[in-house]
Parts: sequence; C-alpha cells; structure tokens
Amino acid sequence: MEEAIRTIKLVKKFGDVKALDELNLSVPKGIFYGLLGPNGSGKTTTVRILSGQVKPTSGKAYVLGIDVSNYIKVRENLGLVPEEEYPPSFLTPLEYLKFVCKVRKIENPEERINFWLNFLDFENYKNVLVKDLSRGTKQKLMLTQAFIHEPKVVFLDEPFINIDPIIQRKFKKFIRSYVKKGNTILFCTHILSLAKEVCDEVGIMKNGRIIKEVKAKNCEKEFFKVFKDVGAT
Ligand SMILES: Nc1ncnc2c1ncn2[C@@H]1O[C@H](COP(=O)(O)OP(=O)(O)OP(=O)(O)O)[C@@H](O)[C@H]1O
Ligand SMILES: [Mg+2]
Repeated sequence: MEEAIRTIKLVKKFGDVKALDELNLSVPKGIFYGLLGPNGSGKTTTVRILSGQVKPTSGKAYVLGIDVSNYIKVRENLGLVPEEEYPPSFLTPLEYLKFVCKVRKIENPEERINFWLNFLDFENYKNVLVKDLSRGTKQKLMLTQAFIHEPKVVFLDEPFINIDPIIQRKFKKFIRSYVKKGNTILFCTHILSLAKEVCDEVGIMKNGRIIKEVKAKNCEKEFFKVFKDVGAT
C-alpha cells in the first residue's frame, strides 16, 4: 500500500511545550483521513510540519515519499487550507486567484477560476477587495486556492468554519469525490459529526500523539471513550 503521508517519531517543542510527542502517522493514498483531538493536541502543528512551514525538533515526515525538509518540492503536489489565514487584504479574489494560477503553472486559469467562482457561489465578489469580504467568502477563496491546481494531497484545517450550509453540502460532495479519484485528504476538525460523514478513517490525538485510530463511522463513540477521564461521558 503506497503512503501519501508518513511521520516517524515526529517531535515538535515550543520552549517547554511539547506540541508533538513522537507522532507516528501513516495515511495511504486515496484515503480521507481525519485528525481529531482537543484544543492544543497538535493537529495544526502536524499540518504545519507536513506543509513545510515549521521545522520539527526531531523525527521525520514525508508527503508522497518526499522528505518535507524539501518543502518546495513537496508543495508542488500539495493543497492547504490553513487554520485562520486569509489572502492579502489589498487584492481582489480574481487578482489573488490569477496569482495562484501563475505560481501553480496552471495552463487554463480563466476556465478554472470561473469554475470555482461559480461552484462556491462567489462570482459577485470577484472584484471586491479581500478586506471587504465576509469571513465565509474569504474562506471560499481559501478553499479555491487549495484545490485549483488539483493537488494529490490536501490538508484541510477546519475548512468549514463560516461556510453556509448550502456550500457545506456542495463542498462535502466535492471532497468525497476528490478522494475517490485517488487523491488524499488530511482533515483536522472538532466537528465529530462532520468527520463521521466525510472521513474514511480518523486518528484521535492527545498530547501530541495519536492514541487511537478508528473507522470514521465509530469516531464519535470512540472519541468520548478516550476522553472519559476529562469529563466527556
Ligand atoms: N508558534 C507556537 N509557539 C508556541 N507554542 C505553540 C505554537 N504553535 C503551537 N503551539 C502550542 O503547541 C500545542 C499544539 O498546538 P496546535 O495548534 O497544534 O493544536 P491543535 O490541536 O491544532 O489545537 P486547536 O484544536 O485549538 O486548533 C499547544 O500547546 C500550542 O499552544
Ligand atoms: Mg488547530
């Protein structure tokens, strides 16, 4: 089984805080994998390391077999919706997406941009400065930039925040079909019902480690079992 994502004894320390504690993660290609865990359990740190934004203190991480220390190479096949980040406030969606298409060397940018503006229903805002967009529209722009180059691996860190239910439904269908084509998605979320609906498998994180891996359909029950000792019943 070929792996899309692999970490080996990954450690990340921020001063005295151990955000990741010898994390071993293995995600095969073509899987929709959810990372669940309480606040501060290390989900975002994992994504930041895998996308080459943060260097691990020790251990190894690979995406599609490429060591993430080679972050320029790794990012060619990667899409990312980061936690709480938006495009520059002084650009419009159209300007920003044209820029992304150039960086990603997309040959038919207009066609792709139009598809996404229509699909996520923000065509009317394409010429409005990002600073004047609603949070949901900014998030639509972030979803678009993550998928517009059709990457083989996508990291989604709470991507549904601020997205209305109509777009949520459409986007859920899209990401499920995206994985069916053989692509891989790593999805960090607190919304257990959502993980249950879209993921194939989930890893439950606690204190920088995956302490349990389960089929997504069982994730709600298993999550509360794991955290029974801290008041979850
Ligand atoms: N840049 C940083 N500097 C210092 N500490 C950090 C930094 N980034 C993360 N941490 C710490 O690392 C730990 C893991 O944080 P991380 O953001 O990975 O958690 P998370 O699981 O994504 O949490 P949440 O569910 O709240 O998004 C936390 O204790 C956090 O405070
Ligand atoms: Mg986080």
